[in-house]
Amino acid sequence: MVTPFPTGKHPTATASSCKNAANVIIVLLILALLQVYNNNELAIASAVKEAHLRCNRDGKIFSGEESGYENVGSKHECCVQCTTPRKQCCLVCSDVAPLREHDLLMASMEGLTHHVMETFQSGNHTAEVKQSHGFLKERAWEGNSHIGNRPAQATFYYDWVRSIQRTDNVHRVCEIGMNGGHSAVIFLAGLYASQKNSGIHLTMFDLSAFEYSKTVEKYINVLYPGMFTLHAGNSRVTVPKWTEEYAKNGVYCDVFSVDGDHTYEGALIDITNAAKATRKGGNLILDDMNPNGVTRKAFDEVVRDGILGDVRCVEDVEIRVGYDNRIDETNARELKISWCTATVI
Ligand SMILES: C[S@@+](CC[C@H](N)C(=O)[O-])C[C@H]1O[C@@H](n2cnc3c(N)ncnc32)[C@H](O)[C@@H]1O
Repeated sequence: MVTPFPTGKHPTATASSCKNAANVIIVLLILALLQVYNNNELAIASAVKEAHLRCNRDGKIFSGEESGYENVGSKHECCVQCTTPRKQCCLVCSDVAPLREHDLLMASMEGLTHHVMETFQSGNHTAEVKQSHGFLKERAWEGNSHIGNRPAQATFYYDWVRSIQRTDNVHRVCEIGMNGGHSAVIFLAGLYASQKNSGIHLTMFDLSAFEYSKTVEKYINVLYPGMFTLHAGNSRVTVPKWTEEYAKNGVYCDVFSVDGDHTYEGALIDITNAAKATRKGGNLILDDMNPNGVTRKAFDEVVRDGILGDVRCVEDVEIRVGYDNRIDETNARELKISWCTATVI
């Protein structure tokens, strides 16, 4: 801000000092007007910046300018650039939900974790069960358990499923891998937020073998009554069985999320079966796609076989995961995560 008079000097009350004071007032008025203009400019600039920031804020998610992606108009500006193939867009800015909506989504992820953990912890379990089933926290911390504490990935899934819904009809999302129900809630929340589409359904395939699995199933059913079905059992059996039964009536998945068995063999079977359960032109989204991992190897093979095409991956996104929750930095660890999408040919 401008100081009207130099500090330490007191002007004397002469005609010239009155003239000076009038000049100062005019200067101040001009400055005030400039400030209003500047504020407007700043507001516009910061809105633009926020659009970039919200794409950038968790880990290295890329914005148009930084990525070098060629803009095709601001609405279609690339917000999340794929790392494979480079220079392709994985999400445009107009597909990205407002920052506050993302925050609410992440808050609901915390709530879900706490509900599931508390329900489990209050149960009378043996030490063995406690150890193996308390892993919702431990494994989430290791990066293997759910996407609810990975904002970059969680918000991507949310925005991505809605971006497809905007241009294509998405009624049925199928998923292998429920665990704590985080990704299921993300899909349902994303689709349900849009009034465009009624009759949405999430068809889940999971072993349902954890003490808290029933709690999760109940939780999702309360949030989205009649919109969630769990097929308990090994996905190698349940997915083909479901496809056989439903395809007869022309029912297929529009979107399929694969996040179950993370061994090479298990992933190969799941990805192949998921592609068969999904309609032609439908979409798959796959977790744990780090470029050198075994699940990625399985995915690449299915692509090479010509079953899936239009592959888009976001790789090696760095995140920090706190042990107790997303915010607490105590014992936080750094992880690199990757995910891919593809279309069924
Ligand atoms: C990584 S977690 C899923 C996380 C969830 N998609 C999320 O992000 O919120 C993997 C889940 O797949 C289940 N699973 C592993 N192998 C399976 C199989 N062969 N059939 C069905 N479910 C399986 C596990 O029990 C676990 O619930």
